[in-house]
Amino acid sequence: MEEQISRILFSREELLKRIDELGAEITRDYKGKNLLILAILKGAVPFMADLIQHIKMPLAYDFMAVSSYGASTHSSGVVRIMKDLERSVDGVDILIVEDIIDTGLTLKYLKENLSARNPKSVKVVTLLDKPDRRKVEVKPDYNGFTIPDEFVVGYGLDFNEQFRNLPYIGILKPEVYENANE
Ligand code: PRP
Ligand code: MN
Ligand code: MG
Repeated sequence: MEEQISRILFSREELLKRIDELGAEITRDYKGKNLLILAILKGAVPFMADLIQHIKMPLAYDFMAVSSYGASTHSSGVVRIMKDLERSVDGVDILIVEDIIDTGLTLKYLKENLSARNPKSVKVVTLLDKPDRRKVEVKPDYNGFTIPDEFVVGYGLDFNEQFRNLPYIGILKPEVYENANE
């Protein structure tokens, strides 16, 4: 697994240092609010697990799973909900947690869908932002790192469902995805 990584972009230590800062900022901003951490399966799970431990206030957390319609994933902008929230978010301050914003299609859909359910607020925290790839305008309220357009894996981010368990964010060697027959 490690031999398929060309270099480490963010070590576990660098990730945790930034997550500590994000947690402090979120703690400050959400003081006294009805915070619901909403992690988007599956990529956001490792980030969310570390982030919640750096938010020093009462909170609830939940999950949604979405998938893109169509043969070329992420191209149509049509998103299907595979797992939805089970409770009303009326009056709730939702903070969507994502591992990465790429085209922005997933997040744009989620923000619109959730806003229609009458929450008190909907904001977004992402660990990584890749603005060069954006197809629709959507910006995170909190962002760990802005990154160039490179194939990143680890810490929740996958290639063909693999590499999510790496404790760091690394750049995948091009031969790995170029040789993949799928
Ligand atoms: C990835 C990532 C974001 C989304 C970003 O998820 O975790 O959720 O794509 O891409 P976008 O900005 O172009 O919409 P993916 O759909 O690969 O599912 P996963 O989290 O289960 O890997
Ligand atoms: Mn995802
Ligand atoms: Mg994925």
